[in-house]
Amino acid sequence: MPRKLHALFAASLLTGAFALASTAQAANCDPAPGQQVFQNKCSVCHALNEDRVGPHLNGVVGRRIGSVPGFTYSADLAGANASWSLEQLDKWLSGPARLYPGTAMAFGGIRNAADRQTLLCFLQQAH
Ligand code: HEC
Repeated sequence: MPRKLHALFAASLLTGAFALASTAQAANCDPAPGQQVFQNKCSVCHALNEDRVGPHLNGVVGRRIGSVPGFTYSADLAGANASWSLEQLDKWLSGPARLYPGTAMAFGGIRNAADRQTLLCFLQQAH
């Protein structure tokens, strides 16, 4: 393999390993900073324990997309045939309408990856 390509390949492997490592750490991270992000950016529409403008978010990590009984989702979320992994949630939170263009969640997204990471830490521990 030419040297340049080889370096690129190694760099993408490293990025992948880093992403995996930070995901794995989410389970025993400190949820306090993420709770703050949740308060600031999500709590106008979401609560952990009850449905409001958006569905309750307790247990959302690993939950099937669009599956809270009695909550009326957009066709995009209702028809999604998957569960919320940390990776999918990270994409969702960086720009909901980019992942599901027909979504009813009127939220532009969180650009800062570290903020998304702390928020996911909090959500992962919310049961
Ligand atoms: C302006 C209101 C609003 C804000 C702000 C908002 N959401 Fe939502 N959210 C919604 C609505 C409405 C839905 C349902 C979307 C649909 O059906 O397309 C939703 C859906 C979701 C879902 C999918 C849940 C499921 O059961 O599949 C997740 C996860 C989520 N929001 C997380 C968040 C987080 C985390 C934040 C803060 C960064 C946030 N939302 C901010 C209104 C909002």
